[in-house]
Amino acid sequence: MSLKRKDLLSIASLSAEEISLILETSDPFKEVSGREIKKVPALRGKTVVNLFFEPSTRTRTSFELAAKRLSADVINFSPSSSSVVKGETLIDTARNIESMQADIIVLRHSSSGAAEALAKHVHSSVINAGDGWHEHPTQALLDLFTIKEKKGRLAGLTVAIVGDVAHSRVARSDIHGLLKMGAEVRLVGPPTMIPPFIERMGVKVFSNFDKALPGVDVVIMLRLQLERQGRSLFPSIREYANLYGLTSERVQRTETDLLVMHPGPINRGVEISHEVADSAQAAILAQVSNGVAVRMGLMYLLSQLQ
Ligand code: CP
Repeated sequence: MSLKRKDLLSIASLSAEEISLILETSDPFKEVSGREIKKVPALRGKTVVNLFFEPSTRTRTSFELAAKRLSADVINFSPSSSSVVKGETLIDTARNIESMQADIIVLRHSSSGAAEALAKHVHSSVINAGDGWHEHPTQALLDLFTIKEKKGRLAGLTVAIVGDVAHSRVARSDIHGLLKMGAEVRLVGPPTMIPPFIERMGVKVFSNFDKALPGVDVVIMLRLQLERQGRSLFPSIREYANLYGLTSERVQRTETDLLVMHPGPINRGVEISHEVADSAQAAILAQVSNGVAVRMGLMYLLSQLQ
């Protein structure tokens, strides 16, 4: 079975079968990263361009490593030293890159919908590496991969997503992915950080973290996006940490073998305590490792159509 689409723009647009296909295809690529020579020829002769208009540590590096481990040629485009500073548009920039025979363009952009707009204008495959508040589909795929790896399944699990859901593209992609794969989703946060009417998606909403915890199998802590929403959505960071921070006491309250996840970067002592972040239950670095395998699997599948 192959992924019959040119681009990966969102989790909302994927079927459960397509998500399963990406996860299953990614699984054998994990072994490649454990080898002494971490390379397979799957994308030999292909060119991958990383087009990141926003800062990134994990996603950009992960796509670069994934493409190199598949033997693709990789270009990391830096907007600050390009003709973007002279006013060239995203579409014109991408069309010029495509003219140099780029097969896959990986785009991170601050505007929601940027990846979809780009995909309509280029023949190259476009992968959304995060667009505004909209979606971050490969983060959700690596989250699903990690949950399945650690818990053995996705269907029937209860997953809490905690924090600034309203500003989080990771939360939006995770919600779509988890619901499609049969998990129960609980959203936890102050009402100012939960989008109105989100229950219509089929999630449960809690403003009290302690009430949401019993029976939770997996908790995904979201980064408090201090650079985006400042301090206006809650009285103080200390109060936020008291009400919504994940501590060892809260981990105990689940009365399950809780799996702790976070997309990064983490604010230690705010949304997650040092102790929990470094505990055996935390899969934060496993998420990062799995991200390389998932991006290898995804780029391999997309290249099958080219
Ligand atoms: N998880 C994530 O998107 O991290 P970066 O912003 O470092 O890429």
